[in-house]
Amino acid sequence: MADFTPRVFSGIQPSGGLTLGNYLGALKRFAKLQDQGIETLYCMVDMHAITVWQNPDDLRRRTRELAAFYIASGIDPERSILFNQSQVPEHTQLAWIFNCVARMGWMRRMTQWKEKAGKNAEEASLGLFAYPALMAADILAYHATHVPVGEDQKQHLELTRDIAAKFNHDYGVDFFPVTEPMIEGPATRVMSLRDGSRKMSKSDPSDMSRINMHDDADTIAQKFRKARTDPEPLPETAAGLEDRPEARNLVNIYAALSDRGIDEVMADVGGKPFSEFKPMLADLAVEKLAPISTEMRRLMADEAEIDRILARGAERARTIAAPILRRTYDIVGMVG
Ligand code: AMP
Ligand code: TRP
Repeated sequence: MADFTPRVFSGIQPSGGLTLGNYLGALKRFAKLQDQGIETLYCMVDMHAITVWQNPDDLRRRTRELAAFYIASGIDPERSILFNQSQVPEHTQLAWIFNCVARMGWMRRMTQWKEKAGKNAEEASLGLFAYPALMAADILAYHATHVPVGEDQKQHLELTRDIAAKFNHDYGVDFFPVTEPMIEGPATRVMSLRDGSRKMSKSDPSDMSRINMHDDADTIAQKFRKARTDPEPLPETAAGLEDRPEARNLVNIYAALSDRGIDEVMADVGGKPFSEFKPMLADLAVEKLAPISTEMRRLMADEAEIDRILARGAERARTIAAPILRRTYDIVGMVG
């Protein structure tokens, strides 16, 4: 395969409340990659959000809120390219090409499609079905080589690789990179606080199941205090967490928040009863999250500034995506 310069791309939907899962599984890792000096592009994927109904005023507000969340989490709009998907039309233009590369059968196998469309697939939008082809376009419009995401996006990234490989094969080129997923660290799957077998999600009907980025200190402390656990104290070592999903989740969260590995954390907290560990976890979460939500509120007070940042980000993104799209059209045989 041709050599592609390392370039990181990831996206988050501006479709609702932001949780600790998004922060630990995505944002915190995005900021780290930026700080390592790799070229990084981060996107608010509003086109993905509208695959299910979004109230227009809510979508506008949430897009800006997500921009504020990115910046408050350490994404520097100078060092990273931070932008809104719909402001870079190359994404949907390339997505059309990929709609013609991807196969119906590939899409139908996507777990997220099956979950979101449910029993009522006939009533789901065509966009929801085609969602992963747009995601592939987001990534490949920049020839991105690395994509940090949570575990739930793994299947979509495999599809992105399949689309790149089929395009390259069908047209006899070596044009799109076969992207590497980056799913690593203790927080690629932050679980619900009520059920250690389900992921923490903004769509869970129980608010007690998740920590929201806007929760205040008391709410965070209360949610951790009430988090479901088994009655045993924490085990002495990480191996003892194996069959204890709720305990493992809380330790994972603690490790991710404190930037330490599981073994290192267990050396500290192993053997402690939950009555002692939960307040430690709550204090740490408040210490790390409070400055982010304060900064988010400050940024949200100046919408015009957020819009300026996004406009500038879109401009920079287009300078990369436009020539790649032009070349793609040329490969496909489009005149112009
Ligand atoms: P979404 O909110 O579904 O657009 O997800 C945005 C990013 O957050 C993606 O990279 C997801 O994989 C990640 N993410 C969402 N929920 C979790 C979770 N509970 N644990 C880890 N990562 C998550
Ligand atoms: N599908 C992703 C999610 O729901 C969001 C997303 C869209 C994305 N395009 C992307 C993630 C490109 C990584 C790269 O979380």
